[in-house]
Amino acid sequence: MTKRGYPGLFLSFEGTDGSGKSTQMRMLIERLRRDGLTVVENQEPGATHIGRQIRRILLDPAHQEMAGMTELLLMFASRAQAAAEIIRPALERGDIVVSDRFTDSTLAYQGEGRGIGFDAVLAAHKLALGDLLPDLTICMTIDVETGLGRAHKRNSTSDEQDNEARLDQQSLDFHHRVAEGYRKIARLEPGRLRLVPGEGEPAIVAERVWLEVAPVLGKR
Ligand SMILES: Nc1ncnc2c1ncn2[C@@H]1O[C@H](COP(=O)(O)OP(=O)(O)O)[C@@H](O)[C@H]1O
Ligand SMILES: [Mg+2]
Repeated sequence: MTKRGYPGLFLSFEGTDGSGKSTQMRMLIERLRRDGLTVVENQEPGATHIGRQIRRILLDPAHQEMAGMTELLLMFASRAQAAAEIIRPALERGDIVVSDRFTDSTLAYQGEGRGIGFDAVLAAHKLALGDLLPDLTICMTIDVETGLGRAHKRNSTSDEQDNEARLDQQSLDFHHRVAEGYRKIARLEPGRLRLVPGEGEPAIVAERVWLEVAPVLGKR
């Protein structure tokens, strides 16, 4: 792994909707905090005040006509704000940042899913974030239909406003393309993005996640 320009550690969780990102992120953060580590959470989009305004636009079901490029640039606008307000300051303090989604989501959803292509997404990333990328990305994999089933169940029983409602209505094909997008990133950056199977009890999945995270913590 290349030398980081900061003392902290930047982790992200990725995967299709319902793959278990938020569940596993919560479990990992609990474990890290029990070990006495300082963890800062980032949620995409919406960890900052400005990001929450952008998130409302992105998730509004009335916005079906949103152009792919609009969606792309809104995501990066929110992300640039989170980097400035939350991520970079935490990394400079030496904290661990755990982000629920980051640029890989945009590569998978907009780049592959909506067919914008990886190059445009990477160009936007460069402009918005420079060379800021997670040190390790845990990408949960799950059968697309199983994941969507889990997400629908969650959305109908939860009031935590964690639904990705507009994206949920997209075709199954779209979700399959997104999953392929993640596999493509894993082929391009096998050292950084680790595919972790999301099937099984959450505690068992958490052990798979820990096997990926522990070595990176050790190098810190
Ligand atoms: N390993 C698992 N097995 C079964 N259900 C799970 C598992 N992990 C999470 N869930 C449930 O599936 C739904 C989606 O999980 P969540 O963590 O919100 O996924 P994501 O953040 O990737 O969309 C939630 O209701 C959650 O409780
Ligand atoms: Mg989630």
